[in-house]
Amino acid sequence: MQKMFKIVVKISFAATWLGVAAFMAPAAFAAGGEAPDSKVCNDKENPPKDVVTQGGCIVIDRTKGNCNACHQVPGIISGDIATRFESMAQRWPDKAKLRAQIFDASKNNPITVMPPFGKNQILTSDEIDKVVEFILSL
Ligand code: HEC
Repeated sequence: MQKMFKIVVKISFAATWLGVAAFMAPAAFAAGGEAPDSKVCNDKENPPKDVVTQGGCIVIDRTKGNCNACHQVPGIISGDIATRFESMAQRWPDKAKLRAQIFDASKNNPITVMPPFGKNQILTSDEIDKVVEFILSL
C-alpha cells in the first residue's frame, strides 16, 4: 500500500512538471510576440531560419526597417511618434492591406512621415513579406 502511494506521488509529481513545461514552452520557444534578441539576429554561424524571427530582425535593424524608431515594438526600446504594434492580426485581418501600408504608407496618407519601404526600395519584396509575418505575431 505504501509502495502504491509512493508511485502515485511520483506520477503526479512528474505530471506537474510536464504541465509546467507545456505551459512555459510557447513563451520559451515560439518565435514572435516581441522583438527578437539582437544576439539571435546577429548570429552569423546560425542565422534565424523561421520567417517570423527573420522579419523581427529586419524590423529592429537600424539599417533596414528601424520601425521601433517610431513605433512601440514590444521587447525593445522604442520611440513613440507612431502606434504601438499590438493586436495586429485582429487589427489587420487583410494581410495584403498591411503589406500595402508598409510598402507605401503615403498611399493611405500623402503627408505621412512613415518611409515608403517598398516603393523607395528601402526593403526588398521578400523582406517586406517577412516583416508582415513578424508584425502579425504581435
Ligand atoms: C519615421 C517614423 C516611422 C517609421 C520608421 C515607421 N513608421 Fe509606420 N507609421 C508611422 C506613422 C506616423 C504612422 C501613422 C499613420 C500615418 O502617418 O499615416 C504609421 C503607421 C503604420 C501602420 C498603421 C498603424 C498600425 O499600428 O496598424 C503600420 C502597420 C506601420 N506603420 C508599420 C510600420 C513598419 C512595419 C515599419 C518598419 C518597417 C514602420 N511602420 C516604420 C511612422 C513610422
